Amino acid sequence: LTTLFKVRVEDKHAERASELLFHAGFAGLSEESTGASVTLTAGAEDKAETERMRNAFERAAAEHGFPFEGWTEELSDDWKLSWIEALEPVQLTPTVRLVPREPPATRLPGDLYLKPALAFGYGEHPTTRMAASWLQERALGRRVLDVGSGTGVLCFVAAHKGAHHAHGVDIDGPSVLAAQDNARLNGLDQLCTFSTAQLEALSCDFEVVIANIDARTLRSLASELCARLAPGGSLGLTGLLEEQTQEVQSAFESCGCRFAPPISEAGWCLLSAQR
Ligand SMILES: C[S@@+](CC[C@H](N)C(=O)[O-])C[C@H]1O[C@@H](n2cnc3c(N)ncnc32)[C@H](O)[C@@H]1O
Repeated sequence: LTTLFKVRVEDKHAERASELLFHAGFAGLSEESTGASVTLTAGAEDKAETERMRNAFERAAAEHGFPFEGWTEELSDDWKLSWIEALEPVQLTPTVRLVPREPPATRLPGDLYLKPALAFGYGEHPTTRMAASWLQERALGRRVLDVGSGTGVLCFVAAHKGAHHAHGVDIDGPSVLAAQDNARLNGLDQLCTFSTAQLEALSCDFEVVIANIDARTLRSLASELCARLAPGGSLGLTGLLEEQTQEVQSAFESCGCRFAPPISEAGWCLLSAQR
């Protein structure tokens, strides 16, 4: 069974609410208009995950100060299938297109194939696009760590750009399995590995670390993330909103990171630092 979390918001808050749902870790958003309000339906594979993501969404919505009504339902897998079938290819960067399908007999260069699953990272969010562009400029020959890897998309972009190796970690077990499947689908399973490992359990350091997670989680992971970053390494942080840059930046500055000016798209930010 897929667990569905439904949120009813005023029309004017619908776009921000769906971004926050995605960012809380939900996948498979559908939208239904009911007069002046909109009901957003988001899915998760297991009930415990739904609760965790629901809490993350509720905290983020409270920070944004918009009212909403939220409730949980369980449905059959039909809903999941209809969401998955609606996924379309996305041009993630000028050179990488994400195709949410099994690869065809003849693959196009630049196409990355992602098996549809309830995981984040089909290129539908501005933070994934910003992170992919940031990584493309830094990945060549480097050991890359992606924290909160979802479908694995950022590791695949790094591998495409000649990374020495990319490792993705995610607390969501089904996302890690989906990323491992996707690595095999793209012939990248030697270069891209995925696990649910805690950051402190990783044995090596990385020259490039990217994390696309919400501001609160980023702050809480600051010292573990910095400990995994090689001296002189590059750190990219996204998943935060413009108004959250200062709090996130401060947490990482106290671990020795120096920040470049933020990059933003549609109210979302990417922070770039060196240690
Ligand atoms: C916004 S998605 C990013 C997915 C993909 N990297 C992208 O950029 O599209 C955030 C991911 O972080 C994971 N996550 C949340 N908290 C985490 C934590 N403390 N440690 C590792 N992963 C976490 C979620 O399960 C989710 O898959």
